[in-house]
Amino acid sequence: MSYNLLKGKKGIIFGALDEKSIAWQIALKAHEEGAVLTLSNTPVALRFGEIHKLACSCNAEILPADATSVADLENVFQQSMEIFGGKVDFVLHSIGMSMNVRKHKDYDDLDYDFFLKTIDISSVSFHKMLQVAKKLDAINEWGSILALSYIAAQRTLVGYNDMADAKALLESIARSFGYIYGREKNVRINTISQSPTRTTAGAAIKGMDGLIDFTERMSPLGNATAEECANFAIVLFSDLSRKVTMQNIYHDGGFSSMAMSLKAMMQYNKSLDEDQ
Ligand SMILES: NC(=O)c1ccc[n+]([C@@H]2O[C@H](COP(=O)([O-])OP(=O)(O)OC[C@H]3O[C@@H](n4cnc5c(N)ncnc54)[C@H](O)[C@@H]3O)[C@@H](O)[C@H]2O)c1
Repeated sequence: MSYNLLKGKKGIIFGALDEKSIAWQIALKAHEEGAVLTLSNTPVALRFGEIHKLACSCNAEILPADATSVADLENVFQQSMEIFGGKVDFVLHSIGMSMNVRKHKDYDDLDYDFFLKTIDISSVSFHKMLQVAKKLDAINEWGSILALSYIAAQRTLVGYNDMADAKALLESIARSFGYIYGREKNVRINTISQSPTRTTAGAAIKGMDGLIDFTERMSPLGNATAEECANFAIVLFSDLSRKVTMQNIYHDGGFSSMAMSLKAMMQYNKSLDEDQ
């Protein structure tokens, strides 16, 4: 059901690769809620992903960009404004990648070139996006910019590796830039800290199946799906959340407030029984 929450709004969605992508679901929902969109991803992702299917469903143009390149980002914002015939109302940063995770490097044996790449792609790209947007004066007053984060920014989870550091920086950038962009242009910046979700990026994390089972048992409302994340993102893009900025908001079924649940305890006790 559509509430027309984004009627007349224009947005850029970075990071839709395939149907499983969180950005994919957010793009579909934003379109359903009346927004006009442009979509962006790396040239490689455009070749190997399925973004053209999404572009057809959303009637959106695709603008290739490596989000670590300031020149590419300038091009995306400039071209989007031309396509929209005006400024942008919302932006989604749904980008993450760690070669250390992909190559199964442990956190106490990191490859530092990979580490810098992780930070550049997964966090500094957000700063670049914000700085480019502000310098081009590309965002309308009360515009909303969102990035996707994970609880590993606050709490240590086995296997999340250098992405934990990347998410901590991402959330910090949202606060630091959120202050300046809010003060000067009434533009708001937030991060959504999403439940573990089965996507291409998610699948790279060691022990993802066990993690998803654990967080499902620990969360009173269960894990949040990509579709549910999309619903929440729409609220944050809409005028219904105008005074929300510089926040990291957990969208995780309550997981972040739990320490032990009945369901997780029952499962844990089974392993103790097996040990006896
Ligand atoms: N899947 C999860 O469990 C989970 C949980 C919390 C947060 N997140 C975050 O959600 C976001 C989206 O990830 P996803 O799970 O939908 O996986 P995904 O693999 O579908 O999306 C990751 C995207 O990043 C893009 N990307 C990688 N390098 C890039 C670059 N240099 N320039 C531009 N784009 C680049 C990829 O092409 C891909 O589209 C990421 O920030 C991820 O960390 C995911």
